[in-house]
Amino acid sequence: MHNGEIEETIQEDLPIMSQTLRDARKYEEINEKRIPKEERPGFHLAARVGWMNDPNGFSYYRGKYHMFYQYHPYNSHWGPMHWGHAVSEDLLHWTYLPAALAPDTAYDGAGCFSGSAVELADGRQLLMYTGVFRRTGSDGIERDIQTQCLAVGDGRDYEKYPGNPILTEKDMPKGSNKHEFRDPKMWRALDGTLRCVAAGGTPERDGRIFLYSSQDGFQWKFEKVLIENNGRFGSMWECPDFFPLDEKQVLLTSPMDMLPQDLEYHNGNGTLCIIGTYDQESQTFTEERNQAIDYGIDFYAPQTILTPDGRRVMIGWMQNWDTCNLHSPEKPWFGQMSLPRELSIVNGRLVQRPLRELEQLWGGKVHYQNVTFSGSMKLEGISGRRIDMEITVRPGDTSNLFQKFSVWFAQDEIYHTSVSFRPRESIVKVDRKFSGSRRAIIHQRRSRVNSKDGQVRLRLILDTCSVEVFVNDGEHVLSATLYTDPSADGISFLADGSVTIDVTKYDILC
Ligand code: FRU
Repeated sequence: MHNGEIEETIQEDLPIMSQTLRDARKYEEINEKRIPKEERPGFHLAARVGWMNDPNGFSYYRGKYHMFYQYHPYNSHWGPMHWGHAVSEDLLHWTYLPAALAPDTAYDGAGCFSGSAVELADGRQLLMYTGVFRRTGSDGIERDIQTQCLAVGDGRDYEKYPGNPILTEKDMPKGSNKHEFRDPKMWRALDGTLRCVAAGGTPERDGRIFLYSSQDGFQWKFEKVLIENNGRFGSMWECPDFFPLDEKQVLLTSPMDMLPQDLEYHNGNGTLCIIGTYDQESQTFTEERNQAIDYGIDFYAPQTILTPDGRRVMIGWMQNWDTCNLHSPEKPWFGQMSLPRELSIVNGRLVQRPLRELEQLWGGKVHYQNVTFSGSMKLEGISGRRIDMEITVRPGDTSNLFQKFSVWFAQDEIYHTSVSFRPRESIVKVDRKFSGSRRAIIHQRRSRVNSKDGQVRLRLILDTCSVEVFVNDGEHVLSATLYTDPSADGISFLADGSVTIDVTKYDILC
């Protein structure tokens, strides 16, 4: 066989790749070099270059975790959506792979929106995503049309299914909003067949979640409306996920236009967790309780997987549509994922704990026990921007309960971000107003937490551009991004009244 023949054989085996995808792959390979490593998060997945939003296709395939993401490589703002792609063995160290999907067909030319991944019976990986194109209606107004589409691949290269789109307006129940149909999340049911939930709405844009089923991953059938908002939580519900957890069934979704209820749901684009039960036979979800997923500033559109050892792990987009336009347009990248979080249900609430593999990156332990203080102090050896730090807080004087405890971090002479605890109101607050954000808008969120006798446990995980606060072993979590220069690595403790703390800090070596 001479060379020409080999070329031909190889080319036949490769999926046909559009120029749009080729361009994106070339662009990201060249331009990722513009981003100095130390400016990136150390153990959180961020955009390879350009813009990142929702996690997509979070899956375990051929021995690796795969994460795809909503991606606009060409600048740090949202644009025609591609799917970026990265793989990992521990969910903390990520290797970028070439962009997986580009908006390059008539049915997805305006964007490849969010979706999910499963393994097919023949070992290939199936992606289902929302293809978006624009159509001008009889009223002369141009609108987005959203349909569900498939691509099949080997964990690196994907070919769009010739039968696309596979779910269209015709597959929605009567009375549905024709222009809101997106974010399919598939899973394999116990009987080996596939299910999928997707976001839809009423003509008034009130959220509804549709359930579909499939034998083979290619032919899908509408089953039912799994759950309806009925005006309770915001408008459209985006990015649903639906899974069993600790004898219960959980629906995660990210509603738009949310209004606050007491201290729940303070983000305009918020997150919602509904815990209930599911009858497999009749496919009926019965709601029992609801809560926000994350109480910080930046968290949206999470997806979960079941790890090979049976843990339900969630990763969200650690940003929020309401605050994601504050960065300088010159920045070569924007958007990162949250830490992977192990989910469980404890006392009827969704509990999130940092992925246990993080402990394998611990180094440089510094521990203090029973430090009683008032006013402000620093502790020798407690500093850093890539750290895992647990603080146990209790009153220094039980007869005179303190007013407030705070920890300041990412601190230098000018900047700091704080997490504070007010025992009398039982409130934990994250505040990044002095983090160097480009605009002095509201930069704080509060959460009512469980605390008794002025005690609380706060685990702060800092990476270069973020803080995630796990309160009382993950009963409440508050996430926020911060773009303070990484050289601001000071940490101080402040107390209004007498406070006793234990502190354990590890550097995260990555
Ligand atoms: C949620 C979302 C999804 C959509 C995607 C587009 O953040 O609006 O509903 O698929 O982002 O990038």
